[in-house]
Amino acid sequence: MDLSTERRQLVRELQALYADKSKHSVYQSLPEFIADELGLQFNIDEKWRGDAIRLRYILRYAERMGWVRDGAWCDFGANTGFFSLSLAHEMPHADVLAIEANVNHARFVKKLARAFKLQRLRILDRGIGRNQLDSIGRHDFLLHLNVLHHAGADFDFDQVKNVTDFPAYARNYLSSLRLQTNHLVFQMGWNLWGNKEQPIFPAIDDVVKLKILVSWLVDTGWKIEDIAYATHVDHNGECFPSLDYKPVSAIAVAGLFDQNFECALYEEMADFRLYEHPGEFYRRPLIICRVA
Ligand SMILES: C[S@@+](CC[C@H](N)C(=O)[O-])C[C@H]1O[C@@H](n2cnc3c(N)ncnc32)[C@H](O)[C@@H]1O
Repeated sequence: MDLSTERRQLVRELQALYADKSKHSVYQSLPEFIADELGLQFNIDEKWRGDAIRLRYILRYAERMGWVRDGAWCDFGANTGFFSLSLAHEMPHADVLAIEANVNHARFVKKLARAFKLQRLRILDRGIGRNQLDSIGRHDFLLHLNVLHHAGADFDFDQVKNVTDFPAYARNYLSSLRLQTNHLVFQMGWNLWGNKEQPIFPAIDDVVKLKILVSWLVDTGWKIEDIAYATHVDHNGECFPSLDYKPVSAIAVAGLFDQNFECALYEEMADFRLYEHPGEFYRRPLIICRVA
């Protein structure tokens, strides 16, 4: 693409679609290959929330586990496509399906997919509720990142009216999701609809929250393969989120299921210093599982 009228027009359209003032606007950055080419970036304050660091961790994990590079990926709740566009670019032989309820954001992804000739990236511009999950097809790898805790506000309005409804709903949802993928990369907020007044697990520590979330996954037929959290770096005595996620060790994961290892789990979780993050986002584990 050269510096043409067409490109300037594309940048203007992207800017308008990005900032559409909806609840999930201004959430993701642009993948570097797009930002460099267009001379356009939407800066996200990584101290509060990051996408590049999550992608890097997921890709590293995929490579380590030998996940095929021509597989079928689905990015559920794709937002402005940071993950879908990156995956389609990184793995040109993979089929990638981006599902996004916000039509402006879906158009944003479509425009970029077309401009960058990402022919194997498809975009479904629809909100999908639990009862429509089978319509998304079956995939090898499914990213389901930071969507589920919006049930009742963004979708399935009749099924989640408050936090009391959420655990049973979430377990049913996770159970249904097993039919749509072999591997699931899952992340969820701890507050229903992102509202601090509605904590899904009130007044309990990060270890107990993790234990409950993992029990939902295991009880609904998932095998946990990896759990990772964002890490910190110390800089002049101040603590910053580092540009990396780190897995919880096998012995600490054992502590989720076996009291004999619980001590290791608590020690390791303390090392993550999750309570020092300014917001709740980096306290959310990134969980990778497969159908048991
Ligand atoms: C909080 S954002 C998370 C974006 C991305 N997955 C991430 O973690 O960076 C949630 C996104 O999911 C979309 N979304 C919410 N419910 C959806 C549904 N039922 N079907 C498709 N998209 C949905 C929203 O429009 C929004 O763009």
